[in-house]
Amino acid sequence: MCDKCKNTFYITTPIYYPSDKLHIGHTYCTVAADTMARYKRMRGYDVMFLTGTDEHGQKIENKAKEAGVSPKEFVDNIVTGQGGVLDLWKLMNISNDRFIRTTDDYHVAAVQKIFKKMYENGDIYKGSYKGKYCTPCESFWTESQLKDGKCPDCGREVTDAEEEAYFFRLSKYAKPVRELLTTTDFLEPKSRVNEMVNNFIDPGLEDLCVSRTSFTWGVPVDFDPGHVVYVWVDALFNYTTALGFLNDAHDDYEKFWPADVHFVGKEIVRFHSIIWPAMLMSMGMPLPKKVYGHGWLLLDGGKMSKSKGNVVDPYLLAERYGVDALRFFLMRTFPFGSDGNFSNELLISCINTDLANDLGNLVSRTVAMVHKYFGGTLPEAQEADEALDQPLLELASGLRDKYEAQMEAYQFQNALAEVFKVISRANKYIDENAPWVLAKDESKKPRLARVLYNLLETVRICGALLEPVMPSTTEKIMARLGNPAHGWDTLSTFGVLPAAVTVTTGDALFPRIDMAKELEALEAIHQEALKAAQAPKEDPLPEPLPPVDFDTFSKVEMTVVKVISCEKVKKSEKLLKFQLDDGTGTPRQILSGIAKYYEPEALLGKTLVAVTNLPPRKMMGQESRGMLLSAERGETLHLVMLDDAVPAGARLV
Ligand code: MSP
Repeated sequence: MCDKCKNTFYITTPIYYPSDKLHIGHTYCTVAADTMARYKRMRGYDVMFLTGTDEHGQKIENKAKEAGVSPKEFVDNIVTGQGGVLDLWKLMNISNDRFIRTTDDYHVAAVQKIFKKMYENGDIYKGSYKGKYCTPCESFWTESQLKDGKCPDCGREVTDAEEEAYFFRLSKYAKPVRELLTTTDFLEPKSRVNEMVNNFIDPGLEDLCVSRTSFTWGVPVDFDPGHVVYVWVDALFNYTTALGFLNDAHDDYEKFWPADVHFVGKEIVRFHSIIWPAMLMSMGMPLPKKVYGHGWLLLDGGKMSKSKGNVVDPYLLAERYGVDALRFFLMRTFPFGSDGNFSNELLISCINTDLANDLGNLVSRTVAMVHKYFGGTLPEAQEADEALDQPLLELASGLRDKYEAQMEAYQFQNALAEVFKVISRANKYIDENAPWVLAKDESKKPRLARVLYNLLETVRICGALLEPVMPSTTEKIMARLGNPAHGWDTLSTFGVLPAAVTVTTGDALFPRIDMAKELEALEAIHQEALKAAQAPKEDPLPEPLPPVDFDTFSKVEMTVVKVISCEKVKKSEKLLKFQLDDGTGTPRQILSGIAKYYEPEALLGKTLVAVTNLPPRKMMGQESRGMLLSAERGETLHLVMLDDAVPAGARLV
C-alpha cells in the first residue's frame, strides 16, 4: 500500500518548558498520547506521534541567568542532560516518532517565515503594548482579564508592561473561531467549550501582542531587529514545522497535517482552541481535527509545581514500581478530561488490586495449572460446556469493540475498566469451574483442558488490549502463551490459540506491595528530599576566563600585607579602609568593598595579600593604592589570608 492510501493518525503532546525537571503531571499527558499512538498503530494506522520542548521566552532566559549559564546551555541540560526530558521519555517507554526543540534551526527559520507571512497579509501589525504581563506563564493580560489583580491562569503577580510591539488581529477571527467551537467537535470535552466562549470569546477577543523587545531569548523578527516572536506563536507552530512546514528538515506535512488530535492540559486550552485556529486561518492552513483538554493531576487538591515543592518524581515511582505499573495507574485511575488527586495510597492500591491480584493472579494461576495438570501443553481433546463457558466467551469476544469505543472517545479509564471486567469474570470462572476438582477425576480431563484453554484465550485477548498502556507486560504475557497471534483482527474472535497450546511459567508479573511498609518508606524519602531542598544551595561556578600567557601573569605584583588598622568609610555601605604594613616601612592605604562581609575589628593583625602595582584610585574621595585579594563564589566572599608567620612584604610567586 502506498503511504498516501494508508490511514494516518497524527497526535501531539504539548511541547514542554524545560525550565525544571518534568514531574508526574507532565508524564501523565505524554503517557496518554503514547497510549493513543500505540493503540492506533495496533489498529494498523500509520502514526506520527510528536512531542518536544518549548525552549524560548523570558522565563527560560531568567532561569538561565539565575543558574549563571547561557539559555541554550540551560535548556540543553534539561532536555538532553542526564535525567532530562529525553531520558524520562525513554524510561517511560514513550514511542514518539519525532521530537522537536523550538531552538532547532529549521523551526526558528520557519517561524520567521510564518510571522512574515501573517505580517504581509495584514494580520500582524505594529502598535504599542500597554498591559499586564505574567512572566511565569509568558502571557499578556488586559486589566479586565485579571483575577483579583493576578494572572487568571496561575494566580501569580503580574507586572505593568509597555513597549512597541507587533499585534495579531485575533479580534478579526472571533466569529469563525466561535463557530468552530460551537458547531463542531473541534474542542473536547464539551465542558471546555463553554469556558472558552463565555470567558474569552463573548466578552470580546482583543488583538494579541505577538512580539517582545524587553528580552532577546526568542525567535528574532527578521525584518525588525530587536523584536522577538511571542513564545506562544513560536511554540504552537511546532506542530507543523516538525512535519516540514516551510522547511526542508522533514517532508511529511502533506501526509500528516491536519493533526488528528492535540492533547493539551486544561490551562492551555485557550491557546490551542482560540489563538491556534485563528492563526491557522490567517495562514490559510487546514485546522487540526481536535483539541482534547485533559485535566490536571493534583496533589493535596492543588496543582503540582516546583514552587510549591510538591512535585512527584516519575523516576522514583518508575524505579520502585516499574514503568508499566506507573503508566497503568495513570491511565486507569483518572478520567482523562477531569482533574484527579494523586496519592501514594491510590497508586499502591491500584497496583495491588488490578495488577497483582486480578491480572497477575489470573495469568500465574492459569499458566501454573496448565503445567501442573498437563505438563505445560494442553491436549487437543477438550470438552466445552455451553452453559458454563458462554458468559466468559461472550464477554471476552465482545471486549475489543467496547474497548475501541472508549479509546476512540479518549476514555482510557473506561477502556481499561472494560478489560478488567473480563479479567474479573475470568477469575470468577476459575472458581465456578474449580479446576482442582476436575483434576481429581481422569474422565474430566477434557473438560479441564477446555476450562484452561478458555482462560488462556481470555488472557490473550486482555493481554493484547493492555499493550498500548503496558507494552512490556503484554510482551511478557504473550511469551508465556508461546507468542500467539494477537493483532487487532484476532481480538474479537475467541479461539485463536491452537488447542494444543504450550505455555511457560515465569516470575509474578506484579509483586504485591506491603502498603504500610511502602508508605513509610516513601515518607522517609519525602522527608529526605525536603531536607535536601531546604539545605543551602551551592552557588554555580563562575565562568572560566580565557587563558593568559605567563608574561602577563607575572607582571602582577602580589605582596603579603598585615592589617595595622581597619575602619568603615563614612557614608559608604560597602567600603572598608585599611592601613597595611607592606614591608616598606610606610603604611599603605587600600579601600576594599567588603564591609558586608567583615567587621573591621575582626581583621586587625591579619595577614592578607594585596595587588600592589595597580595605579592608585580614588574612592569616596580617598586614595586606594592597590587591591586586596579575596575569593568569591555566588553570594559568599572570603579575604585571602595567610599564615601569620609569613612576613609583610613577601612576594607571591
Ligand atoms: N510550553 C507550553 C506548551 C506549548 S504547546 C504549543 C506548556 N508547557 S508546560 O511544560 O508548562 O506544560 C506542558 C503540559 O503539561 C501542559 O499541557 C500542562 O497542562 C501539563 N501539566 C503540567 N502539570 C500538570 C499536572 N499536574 N497534571 C496534568 N498535566 C499537567 O504549557
